[in-house]
Amino acid sequence: MPYGGAVSRRPVAAIVPAAGSGERLGAGVPKAMALLAGEPILVHAVRGLVAEPRVGLVVLACPQGLEASMATAATAVAGTVPVVAVTGGAARADSVRLALDVVPDAVDVVLVHDAARCLVPSHVIGAVIDAVLAGAPAVVPGLPVVDTIRAVDPAGGSRTLDRSALRAVQTPQGFPADVLRRAHATGDPGATDDAGMVEALGLAVALVPGDPQAFKVTTPQDLLLAEALLAAAGGRGEEGP
Ligand code: CTP
Ligand code: MG
Repeated sequence: MPYGGAVSRRPVAAIVPAAGSGERLGAGVPKAMALLAGEPILVHAVRGLVAEPRVGLVVLACPQGLEASMATAATAVAGTVPVVAVTGGAARADSVRLALDVVPDAVDVVLVHDAARCLVPSHVIGAVIDAVLAGAPAVVPGLPVVDTIRAVDPAGGSRTLDRSALRAVQTPQGFPADVLRRAHATGDPGATDDAGMVEALGLAVALVPGDPQAFKVTTPQDLLLAEALLAAAGGRGEEGP
């Protein structure tokens, strides 16, 4: 059932997929609850999202059994922005769909932001919202690729790709709510992210500049990097550049 409360003058809802187990991080707890500078990764992510003045609702997709504790932890840093928690699904796309189900019809713009990209700078969030409000059906932050990338030929060989034409995709990804609902109703099983699902509808995906700080905490090495970035920025609550 959709969340029935007010979304205030903040017209954007942020869905936060946080239901993954974090196998590659191996923290012994689901990744969104792993501690970074003394606080769960999820808390850093929510703090960043609500710092954007247009975000008026946060919907968390949580591992089963952690809905209440995650909602409590996120609410503590969300100020006046309401936080709703739902149980996530088996795959990330299921978690997003289950969260989308509780976003009220009155919400026009939806962001989908991985809890694991917990240090995303606010300029990236703002640029994504701006581009959706300007009319884009899907917006993703992208970064130029720094490595030389080779495409593997199933027959055995490989070839270098033109990396100037490639972008590594981050989150938050932004959409008009109706477009994202249509994309998830159709459910392209081959899509690896929400923008890919929208693309499968035949709609264009716009790119805005990403930021290295929006990297995804995936491995223990990533967590060390996040700790170092926070320490360099002055510690808890000051993850901005
Ligand atoms: N996610 C989710 N529901 C799932 C799987 C993933 O909400 N069924 C979320 C994760 O919590 C994370 C984001 O999607 O915030 C990106 O996924 P990933 O980095 O792969 O996280 P995990 O799946 O938790 O990590 P791993 O693949 O190492 O187990
Ligand atoms: Mg995963």
